[in-house]
Amino acid sequence: MSKQVNPCTFVLFGASGNLSRIKLIPGLFRLDAAGRFPAEMKILSIGRGEMSREAWQAEIKGMLDAKFKNGYDQEVYQRFIARNFYHANPPTDPDAFSKLKNALSDEKVFPQNLAYFLSVRPTDFATIVQQLHQVGLTDESKYWRRVLIEKPFGTNLQTAQALQAELTKYLKESQIYRIDHYLGKSAIQNIMLTRFTNAVFEPLWNHHHIDHVQITNNETLGVGDRTTFYNATGALRDMFQSHLLQTMALVAMEKPKDFTPESIRAEKINLLKSIRPVDVNHLHKNVFRAQYAGGRVDVGDGHSEKVLSYLEELKRDGVDSSKTETYAAVKLFVDNERWKGVPFYVRTAKRMHEGNTAIAIRFKKSPIELNGQQQQNWLIINIQPRECIKMEVQSKIPGLDIATRTLSIDAPQRQQGDESIDSYETLLLNLMEGDPSQYLHIDEVLAQWRLVDPIVEAWAKDDTPVHQYPAGSRDPLESKVIFEGQDQFWRYSIELGGDKF
Ligand code: BG6
Repeated sequence: MSKQVNPCTFVLFGASGNLSRIKLIPGLFRLDAAGRFPAEMKILSIGRGEMSREAWQAEIKGMLDAKFKNGYDQEVYQRFIARNFYHANPPTDPDAFSKLKNALSDEKVFPQNLAYFLSVRPTDFATIVQQLHQVGLTDESKYWRRVLIEKPFGTNLQTAQALQAELTKYLKESQIYRIDHYLGKSAIQNIMLTRFTNAVFEPLWNHHHIDHVQITNNETLGVGDRTTFYNATGALRDMFQSHLLQTMALVAMEKPKDFTPESIRAEKINLLKSIRPVDVNHLHKNVFRAQYAGGRVDVGDGHSEKVLSYLEELKRDGVDSSKTETYAAVKLFVDNERWKGVPFYVRTAKRMHEGNTAIAIRFKKSPIELNGQQQQNWLIINIQPRECIKMEVQSKIPGLDIATRTLSIDAPQRQQGDESIDSYETLLLNLMEGDPSQYLHIDEVLAQWRLVDPIVEAWAKDDTPVHQYPAGSRDPLESKVIFEGQDQFWRYSIELGGDKF
């Protein structure tokens, strides 16, 4: 279902930053190559420093050369480069936004529907919107004006509410597009489609049949050069607060009335509001945090590399101690009929033995015990690196005896020749189409912070030494304290039968 993009001008704040270079400009190029832009569409990049249009176009060429090492279509390039303009908005210039308005006022060049992408420091979101408003550039009486806000939307409930209050002085909710790039991933979008465009899953998708659900994001990467940001943020706020809770909402929500943005978001909001707040009086039964120690991590092709501990990385950057978690595992329950008593184990970590994002659903015990065992099926929806759905079933071992083994029905989502689309491309297109279904409504953001804040606060007061796990290892054994059942274990990637400890 592809919608039409109206002629518009895409206004990119923070155009010379990393996100823009690596994802946004190449993403816009690919959308152009896919024929998704009307002829009149323009891109106005905004940076702090003065630069000629030609110099900026040369920069863009450098970004495309770096991204598309095997080359790209020259005809598309000529079309794309002709869409691109540059405007300097020095922060010290009190007339900067009036000048921006003047630059955009040439209607023959710039379509007046405006899509703003704020790829800037979170502290600048509200100020930019206020200044756009002051010069009339958020006014929708004749044209649409939409503002994309990068994450994080606040750092807790209070700051998210404050940011919302600022933004809504100048914008309507329908003009605000709060991004979570996970919602642009094809495999994440497939969760809802798997559930609601097949008849086989829905009857099983409840507490009668499901034992528990695991939602996992593991990375082999460490915090890299983002120590300042990360140390103030931690795994819970960096990954769990939005990417993982959004994933959980898609796994657990009720069937939307239809696939319109309003219906989808309404069900996600309901679900997020039905998640029971973690009981911080029993913190150690419900959440587990840890930090990576030094170790070796897989760097592909059978090689590994020695890496520093998180605390050593901080020390290198002048910080002496920290309780910030690089591993977080949280047990959640959903207070509704469907999910009565079913634990959702949601975990995320850096510097693990493998990089994998998955939803693993374990079903209840088989109706019959065979050879002293009642087996349990797993359904795995793997998000990355492999996008696939895998169902593990018991099947007879051919031969004289009555015995079973686990077979795996494996359906790769990606078939040969399928397009590979970066999550930002989908979301950029949705912004210009005016489709907010893969963006966060403010009620989702607030519900997420309501779940996260009590844990962050309880951890801040908790003086128990933060557990250390060797970089490149599996979940710390101690994290098992959050399991409800003795027979529950962390499920790793998608090998047959699953790894356990
Ligand atoms: C970002 C986090 O939002 O998501 C990073 O800030 C994390 O810490 C990244 O590495 C993971 O995204 P992806 O798409 O690589 O799974």
